Amino acid sequence: MHSPVDSLAPDWLVVPDDVNELPTAVWPASAGRSDDGALMIAGITATELAQTYGTPLLVLDEDEVRSRARAFRTAFDEAAADHGTTAQVYYAGKAFLSTVVARWVVEEGLRVDVCTGGELEVALAAGVAASSLGFHGNNKSLAELTRAVEVGVGTIIVDSAIEIERLAAITARTGATQRVLVRVISGVHAETHDFLATAHEDQKFGFPLADAEAAVARIRDIPGLDFVGLHCHIGSQIFGVAGFRESAERVLELHAALLDEGPVPHLNLGGGFGIAYTSVDDPTPIETLAGEIVAAVAEGCAARGIAVPALSFEPGRAIVGTAGVTIYEVGTVKDVELGSGFGRTYISVDGGMSDNARPALYGAQFSARLASRLGVGAPQLSRVVGKHCESGDIVVDHEYLPDDVSPGDLLAVPATGAYCASLASNYNHVPRPPIVAVRDGRSTVIVRGETIADVLSRDAGIPRP
Ligand code: LLP
Repeated sequence: MHSPVDSLAPDWLVVPDDVNELPTAVWPASAGRSDDGALMIAGITATELAQTYGTPLLVLDEDEVRSRARAFRTAFDEAAADHGTTAQVYYAGKAFLSTVVARWVVEEGLRVDVCTGGELEVALAAGVAASSLGFHGNNKSLAELTRAVEVGVGTIIVDSAIEIERLAAITARTGATQRVLVRVISGVHAETHDFLATAHEDQKFGFPLADAEAAVARIRDIPGLDFVGLHCHIGSQIFGVAGFRESAERVLELHAALLDEGPVPHLNLGGGFGIAYTSVDDPTPIETLAGEIVAAVAEGCAARGIAVPALSFEPGRAIVGTAGVTIYEVGTVKDVELGSGFGRTYISVDGGMSDNARPALYGAQFSARLASRLGVGAPQLSRVVGKHCESGDIVVDHEYLPDDVSPGDLLAVPATGAYCASLASNYNHVPRPPIVAVRDGRSTVIVRGETIADVLSRDAGIPRP
């Protein structure tokens, strides 16, 4: 067995005082332990959920999603009111979208941001009013744009000169008037993983600030398009306000210049609000962020002598991330010795990169806890790995888990509500897990799990009657 001071542990990883504790920033507010030590979410034990639905299983805490949606709406409403304007919050559906979740967030007063024809259809199937949808994407097809205009999508966020011409042709043909925002690149590189940062210059999204004025002029010339403002999204999993403040400052310079030629009633500053994945992450409360970001915009407007525009934000991860907990069953446990007393325990679970690609894609860190009972052993440096055929198939890179974790135990990985199911695949022909909503001691399937038959159903070489 390896000691907790094993040097394979990264500097940030803290040996927990109690291997069974559930750090509050990482778990849904309803998470706790039952009398027999099992993890409970919204009044249901992980054991009962696993017995009912099998593993792996993504559990989504409905109250957590709703309360975060409400917190965002209230925080931005209040911050905007303090500066004489209004704010809309769009839930970024790419984080996780199903009809049920779309209805929850809309019931809590949010709008919905979609970025493909598929996401658009989910929102429409959920009964979300088309007028409260924002439609994103750097390569929206003619068919997707036509559908969006025809159903009356509230705002299309234009990403390229070619898209402007596509929309000109569609609105000329249908006679519709389409509200559009223009997505710009502010040049701010948010402090996050490179792949997640979207507002530095060398990337595919939006218009460089220098080109945006011409794009807006072209839009203002097209009778079927109603230019309402600029959009900028600087990245994802961002802590703090510095990036938002700097980006707003640069975008406001263009916003002010555009006012010379016509109205610019809106400004959308995107999403990207970070969440805690491990006990050392310490995200700023949304009330503070909203207050500081809106104040920065108001200051920038005051300095330019212009009115504060109506504001919009697009949080995805911060609404659903912490509401999700993935439950796995442990299959094998191996102690791997690397010499000089260094080593770690590899704990293999029955899912992996097919249900959570984030560690493999971004080197993302997660945490884990024993979920079917209390651990009684000492904290052991562990790596939770999946069942896929590659060594990068890591679920939790570094965690201290009790050294009595054994085959048949359940492990729970928190903060998997965002960008896990969305990015899931059938790699190695592994079926994607069910997604189950929990609330007040009740559970409901909101997305059914795949079967092997589902996975084989597209193989045209299998003889079928
Ligand atoms: N608005 C726009 C235009 C976006 O591109 C995104 C995310 C959001 C809003 C929502 O960002 P959020 O609040 O969720 O950070 N798969 C990556 C994240 C990709 C984010 C893509 N765009 C991950 O797993 O970390």
